[in-house]
Amino acid sequence: DGSLRAAARGTDVRVGTAVDMAALAADAPYKAAVAREFDTVTPENVMKWEVVEPQPGVYDWTAADQLVAFAQKNRQLVRGHTLVWHNQNPSWLTEANYTPDQLRALLRKHILDEVGHFKGKVWAWDVANEVFNEDGTLRDTIWLRALGPDYIADAFRWAHQADPKALLFLNDYNNEGVNAKSDAYYALVKQLRSQGVPVHGYGIQGHLAVQYGFPDTVLANVQRFDKLGLKTAFTEVDVRMLLPADTAKVQAQAEGFNRLLRACLLVKHCVSYTVWGFTDKYSWVPGVFSGEGSATLTDENLQPKPAYHALRETFLLA
Ligand code: G3I
Repeated sequence: DGSLRAAARGTDVRVGTAVDMAALAADAPYKAAVAREFDTVTPENVMKWEVVEPQPGVYDWTAADQLVAFAQKNRQLVRGHTLVWHNQNPSWLTEANYTPDQLRALLRKHILDEVGHFKGKVWAWDVANEVFNEDGTLRDTIWLRALGPDYIADAFRWAHQADPKALLFLNDYNNEGVNAKSDAYYALVKQLRSQGVPVHGYGIQGHLAVQYGFPDTVLANVQRFDKLGLKTAFTEVDVRMLLPADTAKVQAQAEGFNRLLRACLLVKHCVSYTVWGFTDKYSWVPGVFSGEGSATLTDENLQPKPAYHALRETFLLA
């Protein structure tokens, strides 16, 4: 078995991918690869609030339940993504429609209901997603404006109440190295812990780009969270590039993927390394960054790139 999953078996790090549910339903080779290559799965979109509660009080767990069933069948763990965010919220959820007290009640109900629905079936939740700006100030969102900064602690408490065994993560991008944003997370974690808030993990998305180079303080950053006794995880790794791809770029890409995995393997409590999709066929990147792409481990035909082989080798040597 030459899979990533088999290569990771000798380590304490689980290897995962985001899953596109439309692709899982329609594309048999894609589906086979998800089952074969990975220990964990993260729904790319179908556990987000706009999907699970399209109308107030009307839930639709269909796609998310399908992913959980798929994972159970393939002996995979599920990373739940995501409970509190400023994106992909339902269109009915606005400050014009509700008072702050009502918004607080809606957020509480959303978290209790969603985490409760998946109780015992989700290994780890990205509870709070992307709450800081790059300069380390809290992001101006519907939640900060209506509820103030305590919404983060509340979200973790509610999630813990609904499933005391689930691991609860903070999660963000541009927080790989030591910088103002990761400093803000470090301070937040210490503050939450001093208040007894059940926060268990620090999630590093890991959306890198070849043309910007890679942060060189990744290991130091992961180490400082590790020393707090916190679990860490790389949650959404991809390494995009300016198109067209060429040999130099795909080699550099392999280095980017590998740098994050090495940092994960070098600390005690890094529990998983997840890629944000494993094939260029379904990557979110070209739709968002024009002129960029080729961000994943395999091409449009699911053929492995150097980055795939690099991760396998790194797991095997660990
Ligand atoms: O499902 C609808 C479809 O019905 C409609 O016809 C179509 C038309 O635009 O849109 C479809 O929804 C799209 C959805 O992906 C599912 O494909 C949304 O427009 C599109 O905005 C959405 O993009 C997702 C993005 O989050 C939105 O913020 C990406 O797939 C997803 O990869 C991306 O993931 C985020 C993580 O959650 C958080 N970290 C960053 C990461 C990358 O942006």
